[in-house]
Amino acid sequence: MTPSDVKATLSFSDGSPSMDLPIFKGSVGPDVIDIRKLYGQTGKFTYDPGFLSTASCNSKITYIDGDKGELLYRGYPIEQLATKCDYLETCYLLLKGELPNADQRVEFTKRVTNHTMVNEQMQFFLRGFRRDAHPMAIMTGLVGGMSAFYHDSTDINNPEHREICAIRLIAKMPTLVAMAYKYSVGQPYIYPKNDLSYAGNFMRMMFATPCEDYVPNDVLVRAMDRIFILHADHEQNASTSTVRLCGSSGTNPFAAIAAGVACLWGPAHGGANEAALNMLEDVQRMGGVEKIGEFIKQVKDKNSNVKLMGFGHRVYKNYDPRAKLMRETCHEVLSAMGMNNDPILKLAMALEKIALEDDYFVSRKLYPNVDFYSGIVQRAIGIPVSLFTAIFALARTVGWIAQLNEMISDPEYKIGRPRQLFNGSPTRDVKPVGER
Ligand code: CMC
Repeated sequence: MTPSDVKATLSFSDGSPSMDLPIFKGSVGPDVIDIRKLYGQTGKFTYDPGFLSTASCNSKITYIDGDKGELLYRGYPIEQLATKCDYLETCYLLLKGELPNADQRVEFTKRVTNHTMVNEQMQFFLRGFRRDAHPMAIMTGLVGGMSAFYHDSTDINNPEHREICAIRLIAKMPTLVAMAYKYSVGQPYIYPKNDLSYAGNFMRMMFATPCEDYVPNDVLVRAMDRIFILHADHEQNASTSTVRLCGSSGTNPFAAIAAGVACLWGPAHGGANEAALNMLEDVQRMGGVEKIGEFIKQVKDKNSNVKLMGFGHRVYKNYDPRAKLMRETCHEVLSAMGMNNDPILKLAMALEKIALEDDYFVSRKLYPNVDFYSGIVQRAIGIPVSLFTAIFALARTVGWIAQLNEMISDPEYKIGRPRQLFNGSPTRDVKPVGER
């Protein structure tokens, strides 16, 4: 970390001695005030629920400039990665810090492809779930369960274990997500076909049956691959921070990633793509474009608890660059499917236009995020709504692993242990039950 010449001085109005705090400079983005010695020197903690002003780690992987609407993986703009690279190249970049050259690309793709099958026992494990279980409930179980299948890659402190675990997770997530889907519809699992691309193979495992093969359409495969790239990492979001915190105890990487899957499920995070499409379908049922005004009124009513799903972001105070790319893909896919007049797309565009002109959204800097359009794309590809978040988890797995590896390799890493401001009862005595 690069120290700054500037120091922050913390002073107290009660005359307690002031304290100089070092400042570290990022390569881009805000500097951070180093408060690690604060408690030791002043006996005080800082208070920042929701981490509004707290950097929980230092990282070289992903950078977001929320005001500009910029997203970089290892310095490369997301727009360039989405148009010039495929998902496995992006995985290589996130994991290793550089884009692969031609040989490295072939080698990495071959390595991942060699691991696409899952242990045959996995299907018996899956069979224990109800057929109507939510795919994210199944995925949390399956990913956590992988530690019971791959004993040779569970030592988080062993770089070789972490390496093979990374390859296994990236390779097997599409297989597991497709299996969760096939189980829910009562169809036989389709084994991976390793001469297909990563996204093409996933789509075949989803949509082929033993009686009918599925020949992936190039436009749809490219769209799927783009969904994977756009969701691959997003710096210290809730699920990534969960993975880091979980992994900081030294637990095995599969368990840490399973914790990330569980966190991602929430509607404020990865579950928003499912919630956004459900919302659009609800408005469509209410009467569609005609009813947007009424719906927006509900969203603005603080007592309604209705949110415009797919809008707003903790970091982006401008258009989410992923949403722009997703909107472009959305038009490509719907056009390839002959669905240019899709009422849900029309509704989404009308809703977006109205929201972007409405003072409630403008004053709060609420713009569409990636989830606003990704659901429409996935629905056009034929993916059921309940599977959207599992696909987000599939794509984000590489980011979680890269962040976990970065944390474990950092000599300054410690178990994560936040502090608290205690507001409960001070010490008191237990009374006998009759006197309580
Ligand atoms: N619809 C209506 N009002 C909103 C929305 C929304 N989608 N998002 C934020 N607001 C309001 C919020 O009520 C608050 O208003 P006020 O200042 O009057 O109390 C103000 O905007 C600031 O919101 P916040 O809740 O303090 O912002 P946050 O940073 O804590 O929350 C968020 C960020 C993403 C959880 C929130 O914007 C949200 O719930 N959005 C909808 C869910 C969603 O689309 N999530 C996907 C995020 S992108 C995918 C990912 O990375 O996981």
